[in-house]
Amino acid sequence: MNQTAEKFIRNPDMAKEEYIELIKCADDPEAVQALREEAVRVRKRYYGDKVYTRGLIEFTNYCRNNCYYCGIGRRNLHVRRYRLTKEEILECCRKGYELGFRTFVLQGGEDLWYTDKRMAEIIRAVRERYPDCAITLSLGERSYESYRLFKEAGADRYLLRHETANEEHYRKLHPPDMNLVVRKLCLSDLKLLGYQVGAGFMVGSPGQTVDCLAEDLVYLKELQPHMVGIGPFIPHHDTIFAEEKAGSVELTLFLLSIIRILLPKVLLPATTALGTLAPDGREKGLRAGANVVMPNLSPLENRKQYELYDHKNCTGEEAAECIGSLRRQVEASGYRLVSERGDAEV
Ligand code: 5AD
Repeated sequence: MNQTAEKFIRNPDMAKEEYIELIKCADDPEAVQALREEAVRVRKRYYGDKVYTRGLIEFTNYCRNNCYYCGIGRRNLHVRRYRLTKEEILECCRKGYELGFRTFVLQGGEDLWYTDKRMAEIIRAVRERYPDCAITLSLGERSYESYRLFKEAGADRYLLRHETANEEHYRKLHPPDMNLVVRKLCLSDLKLLGYQVGAGFMVGSPGQTVDCLAEDLVYLKELQPHMVGIGPFIPHHDTIFAEEKAGSVELTLFLLSIIRILLPKVLLPATTALGTLAPDGREKGLRAGANVVMPNLSPLENRKQYELYDHKNCTGEEAAECIGSLRRQVEASGYRLVSERGDAEV
């Protein structure tokens, strides 16, 4: 068998140079298969055949940032902007609860209309009405104090992808007013406050090298997040990356397996981007080590407006109301969709 892959399976704690070698094995079918099989073994050891679901509520597409890859950056004047009220968010939760969701992910652009006070009020309302559900936030960079308030109001988890752990690469993906140090500080603040924390990155984003990916692995190993979201980069027509190539589905799957082995108990979604780029992307993700799916619970009329990249899926198995067909798809992959909060094993 491929020696680097074998070595990684025996001891996943490797140095950056070795991760570079490991990632280069992506074009060795034998290594890919060995790591996939090990990833599935590891996920079954901790999670059996369970797949957790999260209801994703995209509550605002306003954003103060201008990440070069993202379709809803503030410079994009073609986007019709929307904000959900507290009542509308609660209505999404109601529908989601009925469908069996026990985690709600409140995701949005960085929209300061949702002041700490407004946000805390929304969180408290969801918490009060759904004491048995987990509340996950995904609204970008805020201060330690804001994160603390949100936690106090009842939030349990926070998703904030680091996007890339390489300083120079971060510069290529973001305008000068954003910076990797701040991003990493936010992630460590969130951990400190006791959130279950999710980091993550895009695969194949412009300028990404094997070196960058190796640094992502080193960073994840240091951070020890509870969740890791990775999906292929997909160009958006209104961005400066419109003509760039999309990331590779195969490499994404390979990295899912690697991350499963690196962080055995991690919650690892088969992401929308993966399902968007390949019709069977989600199943393949589950078969490569993923154990979470995050269907869309946003109001139907807003889904098209939350277009981070072109052709982003928001119907079929990606839609919360089609959970029946998602369930069949998950079962066809040999797993079982469950209606539990699905906290990370510790
Ligand atoms: N392709 C793939 N993923 C994207 N994201 C943003 N834009 C794109 C894109 N063009 C991801 C980012 C962000 C998450 C919400 O969506 O990683 O953190």
